[in-house]
Amino acid sequence: ITQWELVDVQGVPLPSSTADHWDQIWGFQARPDDVLICTYPKAGTTWIQEILDMIQQDRDTQKCSRAPIYQRIPFLELCRPPLYTYCFKEAEAMSSPRILKIHLPIQLVPPSFWEQDCKVIYVARNPKDTAVSYYYFQQMNHGLPDPGNWDQYLETFLAGKVPWGSWFDHVRAWWDARDKHRILYLFYEDIKKDPRGEIRKMGQFLGRELPESVLEEIVQHTSFENMRENPMANYSTVPSFIMDQAVSPFMRKGMVGDWTTHFTVAQSERFDDEWTRRLEGSNLHFRTRL
Ligand code: A3P
Repeated sequence: ITQWELVDVQGVPLPSSTADHWDQIWGFQARPDDVLICTYPKAGTTWIQEILDMIQQDRDTQKCSRAPIYQRIPFLELCRPPLYTYCFKEAEAMSSPRILKIHLPIQLVPPSFWEQDCKVIYVARNPKDTAVSYYYFQQMNHGLPDPGNWDQYLETFLAGKVPWGSWFDHVRAWWDARDKHRILYLFYEDIKKDPRGEIRKMGQFLGRELPESVLEEIVQHTSFENMRENPMANYSTVPSFIMDQAVSPFMRKGMVGDWTTHFTVAQSERFDDEWTRRLEGSNLHFRTRL
């Protein structure tokens, strides 16, 4: 497929598949009962999608197998005639209540989501594991720019010259806004550590008190091992000329701390310096190991 170049939208590099349709995306009409999942790419978006669909479908695994996850929960900001995924157009036609997904930084969220006071679940993942995961994803997803080698990619990532821009700006601005809107701000590492507790939180945020047995079913269904084997969750239904899982599987490692096998000591220190500088004055903290 043709690689989407990165196009500047208000200072944020977005894939042309989003940028070329920006006016339409910006004008998207939210409904009050929409739930929006937002993440910086590779934070565990698909995991949260599967969890929320399980909650919404009353943990009916048959219903959660009705279509691939990217069709059950459309990626709002894609607007091209879809190659494989459900985007803007399908989202418009969906019946309520809808769960929608975006990767946009907060200032680029279509204003009607705020006007309708929609609930938003934001998930953040520590930047070192995010960078490693993104590096492999940009290799296997032929729509995104080739990442080059790891040393090069690390600099590109730190400079925010990757699709959806700077990780630091993204997580920080969403964090600062969390009390101004109905935003549940979650961390990948917390969900890894205590899936049951974090899924309970998601349920409560959506107004559902989930009994222990239900929580247990959702935890099982959405474990990394089960999602990796589930064709409706692991993106194996996407043609390999778009996502080549022989290059790197979509469900790659699913762990906290894989960065330690990729960063040199010098790279880790350089990264930490930049991290400290970019999140200075913020009380936003991440775990890089469990
Ligand atoms: P890795 O590349 O580190 O393995 P996204 O869905 O935002 O693109 O994020 C993908 C990352 O989340 C991948 O990370 C993937 O393995 C991980 N992931 C997906 N499902 C998961 C699950 N059920 N538990 C833990 N991690 C999961």
